[in-house]
Amino acid sequence: MTGFNPPMQLIIFLSLLLMASTTTTITTATAAPQQLSATFYDKTCPGLQNVVRSVMSQAVQKEPRMAASILRLFFHDCFVQGCDASILLDDVSGFQGEKSAGPNANSVRGFDVIDKIKAQVEATCKGVVSCADILALAARDGVALQKGPSWPVLLGRRDSQTASLSSANSNIPSPTSTLSQLTAKFQAQGLSARDMVALSGAHTIGQARCTTFKQRLYNQSGTGQADPTMNTAFVAQLKGRCPSNGGDNNLSPLDVLSPTKFDKQYFANLQNGKGLLTSDQVLFSSSTQSLVSTWSSDQPTFFSAFTSAITKMGNLNPLTGSSGEIRANCRLRN
Ligand code: HEM
Ligand SMILES: *[C@@H]1O[C@H](CO)[C@@H](O)[C@H](O)[C@H]1NC(C)=O
Repeated sequence: MTGFNPPMQLIIFLSLLLMASTTTTITTATAAPQQLSATFYDKTCPGLQNVVRSVMSQAVQKEPRMAASILRLFFHDCFVQGCDASILLDDVSGFQGEKSAGPNANSVRGFDVIDKIKAQVEATCKGVVSCADILALAARDGVALQKGPSWPVLLGRRDSQTASLSSANSNIPSPTSTLSQLTAKFQAQGLSARDMVALSGAHTIGQARCTTFKQRLYNQSGTGQADPTMNTAFVAQLKGRCPSNGGDNNLSPLDVLSPTKFDKQYFANLQNGKGLLTSDQVLFSSSTQSLVSTWSSDQPTFFSAFTSAITKMGNLNPLTGSSGEIRANCRLRN
């Protein structure tokens, strides 16, 4: 009998080991960001976060709107094939990128700032840091520079060798969306209605072109009238910036009261009928109305919902390990 004991223990040991490794595999599969890590570049590019912060700081000082533009780039990246820097790729002969998609064309901006960060990072850490991680860090720093929250960014994303114009057109929500259309687009990315309201709080900074909300002023839903959910003084003010004919590229702040401060004002605006886009104003209705009310008077709770939601968004489908590549130039595949 004694001769059987060591092998039996070995078998038990091996089955435990097998169970443990199976468990690990399952955990990794359900929580994709498992392979991302806060310390990813600690040895290979220890200066990374300082470089990103300093270039962002200069850029935002020069033009406060840049914080918003970079944050939006991050959103439009993550909603299309995950956060893989696909939005940064230029259209070149034989390759179609995402820049001409409806939600991006004549609209997304900030590519020069990402190029500047990348060039400085390459100078000290050649071929090591992905454009996808640079964008994730730059978006975080922009928010913090506008007095918003900050959060730890897990790193180790790699850059795509592909882009999808059609996914950019279908995954990114339209400003004329209803609440259920918005909820569906976020749900398709694994983000809840709460995440959606929190992330929409990004519209506490930045600008929108008249073309994205003009129908609300002159002819909402073919009625020939302004959107009745809009504050009438706000309608009059916006008409001054957006004439019925022309002026489609004129800009208005998404948060009329504090357009360069990342704060809870966006939610108070919605309560007052001063949401700029239809997709903003509809959040103050139905099942999401109470979140808007709560956050309009509780900035810490908004900030913690925002950091939780943007962390989830930032971890969408990263390319890790040997998938994808580390681009030398964020605009081009290697
Ligand atoms: C809920 C669905 C959303 C819709 C329908 C939407 C739509 C829009 C539109 C139409 C603009 C103006 C674009 C232009 O005039 O060219 C805009 C700007 C902006 N969006 Fe969104 N957005 C949404 C969610 C988000 C999210 C989740 C974020 C980031 C977390 C975000 C960040 C921004 C920022 C910061 C700007 C200003 C950009 C700038 O000034 O350059 N948006 N958005
Ligand atoms: C308002 O929009 C409807 C369709 O949505 C259109 O038929 C109508 O001509 C428009 N009216 C004006 C004054 O532009």
